[in-house]
Amino acid sequence: MTILPPLLAGNWKMNGMQGSLSEIEALRDAVTSGRMGRAETLICPPFTLLRAAADLCRGAALGIGGQDCDPKPSGAFTGNISADMLRDAGATAVIVGHSERRTLMGETDALVHAKADAAARAGLLAIICVGETRDEHDRGETLQVIGRQIDESVPRTSGAGTIAVAYEPVWAIGTGLVPSAGQIVDVHGFLRQRLEGLLSDRAGGVRLLYGGSVKPDNAEAIGALSNVDGMLVGGASLKAKDFIEIAAAYR
Ligand code: PGA
Repeated sequence: MTILPPLLAGNWKMNGMQGSLSEIEALRDAVTSGRMGRAETLICPPFTLLRAAADLCRGAALGIGGQDCDPKPSGAFTGNISADMLRDAGATAVIVGHSERRTLMGETDALVHAKADAAARAGLLAIICVGETRDEHDRGETLQVIGRQIDESVPRTSGAGTIAVAYEPVWAIGTGLVPSAGQIVDVHGFLRQRLEGLLSDRAGGVRLLYGGSVKPDNAEAIGALSNVDGMLVGGASLKAKDFIEIAAAYR
């Protein structure tokens, strides 16, 4: 089993204009000068900044990813972007099944599965997001919900080179709330087991990221937890300074 470095990914969501490229430049310089530690780093800006961001990072160890892709390679799907197009624009990865897409756009596990397949065909790493809502959490259904999301959204051909899985409790996203260390360890242990059931020995190297209110002041503690192989960061990835401080978790 190849052991990959931890993955620190930033999800800019629908934030960032031309001027925000200076944050990407600052991150690129931090990566190049070794200030980002040993993590593999990735920023997922909005589509409009993808190519410019990828051009800025060419030859540097800062990857650029998409936030979504269509399952089809091309065709009459107005407004959508395919995984091949992301690759063509310089992306190396794509987030699929983010809870905002699952809830706001009604994306199903089957659709997320198809998107992860499309990413693999295009040679992109798919970061597949799973996570329970506040109500599901309060009803004690966390593992049941996540188990279903894993079973139905992870392609059976996946391995460490084609997917990472991000556990993002919906109630922790953008709220400043974070599960206890014990809860994160329990869920990530469960995820590892579930992936082993699906992918057998290919599951071992699949990186399990935690996401939801990761900030400079909690990143080190979260990053040190068992079966946490990286983090998916929203708000705190918008400013290079914060993201660099988060990366200190992997110094
Ligand atoms: P947050 O978002 O870090 O702002 O909570 C995380 C995410 O939605 O990926």
